[in-house]
Amino acid sequence: MKLLVTGGAGFIGSNFVLYMLREHPNYEIINVDALTYAGNLENLQSIESNSRHTFIKADIADVKQMENIFAQGIDVVVNFAAESHVDRSILAPDIFVRTNVMGTQVLLEAAKKYQITKFVQVSTDEVYGSLGPTGLFTEETPLMPNSPYSASKAGSDLLVRAYHETFSLPVNITRCSNNYGPFQFPEKLIPLIISRALNDEAIPVYGDGLNIRDWLYVEDHCRAIDLVIHQGKSGDVYNIGGNNERTNIHIVETVLQQLGKPLSLIRYVKDRLGHDRRYGIDPTKLETELGWKPAHNFETGIKETITWYLNHQEWMERVQSGTYQDYVKLQYGQRMGDSGA
Ligand code: NAD
Ligand code: TYD
Repeated sequence: MKLLVTGGAGFIGSNFVLYMLREHPNYEIINVDALTYAGNLENLQSIESNSRHTFIKADIADVKQMENIFAQGIDVVVNFAAESHVDRSILAPDIFVRTNVMGTQVLLEAAKKYQITKFVQVSTDEVYGSLGPTGLFTEETPLMPNSPYSASKAGSDLLVRAYHETFSLPVNITRCSNNYGPFQFPEKLIPLIISRALNDEAIPVYGDGLNIRDWLYVEDHCRAIDLVIHQGKSGDVYNIGGNNERTNIHIVETVLQQLGKPLSLIRYVKDRLGHDRRYGIDPTKLETELGWKPAHNFETGIKETITWYLNHQEWMERVQSGTYQDYVKLQYGQRMGDSGA
C-alpha cells in the first residue's frame, strides 16, 4: 500500500509515520509537509535511510504541487497537515482558513481525480464546542466550534463529508481528544509545562485552571487511525479518546511534582478568549465496531512523556528558535506582566 501522509513532520504526523513503517513492513509512505514552525525533520531522523519513506516539502494548498504528488499513484491519504494551535488562531485566523479549509479542499479534489481508495481526515473533538459538567461528545453531537482553529477544522470536516455525499469519495473523519507524547511542540500545554519548569520559569495557567481536557497518548491515536484506514466504514466519523479527563491545574501539578519542581512556579494569568470549558469523548463506536482500546492511561503515559522530554532536551532547545521566542513574547508578555515570559 502507498500512503500519502500530510503534516508528517509535525507532532502526531511524525509519530504516525514511525508507527506505520514499524507496524506494516510492506507499506510505502510519501510524507508531505510544508515545514512551518511546527514541522521538524529531526522528528524523522531515525528513518532517514528507510527506502519506504519519501519526504517532500510542499504546501497542501498548492494545487500544482499536490497534482504532481498524486500523479505518482497513491492508495490512501491521511491528512494531518494543519495549523493546530488555538492561541495562534486567536492572534491570526487567516492562515488557519487557508491551510485547514482550502488545503483540505485541494487534497480532496486531487483524491477525487486520482481515485484514491480512502481519505482519512484527522480532525479534533474541538469541532463539537464545549461541554457542561456532564455528558460526552458522540459522533452525533452537533458541530459548534468556538475558536477560529476549531471553526476551520469543522469547515474541513464538512468539505470531506460533502466530497463523500456528492462524489462518493471514500472517506473517514476521526475526531480525537487532546494528544500528548514525544515530539509535541512546546507551545501546547504539557511540553510547555515541562520546558518552562526545567528552566525554573513561571507556568501560565489560563483563568481558574479548572478547564477540562480528555488526554490521549499519541501512539493510541496512531493505532486508532490505522484501524480506521483498514476497517472504517466509508463516510463514517469515529471519535477517539481514552476517558482521561483532567483539569488543567491537575496536569500542571502532576508534571511539576514528577519533575521535582515547586508548585510556586504556577502563575494564574488572564483567560484565553472563548476558552472551551470541557471536552470529553465517548469512544464507544471505535471500541465496539473496530475493537480499539488504548494501551496507555494518563498515569503511565505522562511518566513516559516526561522521561522522553528529559532525554531530549536538545531537541526542545532547537525547536525553540528565535521565531518561537517572538511568539512567546506576543502570547505571554502582557498576560505575565512582561516578567515570566
Ligand atoms: P502540528 O502543528 O504539530 O503539526 C502540523 C504539521 O502540518 C506541521 O508539520 C506543519 O509543518 C504541517 N503543515 C502546516 N501547514 C501546512 C501546509 N499548508 N502544507 C503542508 N503541511 C503543513 O499538529 P499536530 O498536533 O501534530 O496535529 C496534527 C493534526 O491532528 C491536525 O490536523 C490537528 O487538527 C489534529 N489533532 C490534533 C490534536 C492534538 O492534541 N495535537 C488532537 C486532535 C486532532
Ligand atoms: P492546548 O495544549 O493549547 O490545547 P487545546 O487548547 O487545543 O485544548 O491547551 C490545553 C489546555 O491548557 C487549554 O484549556 C488551555 C490551557 N493552557 C493553559 O492554561 N496555559 C497555557 O500556557 C497553554 C498553552 C494552555
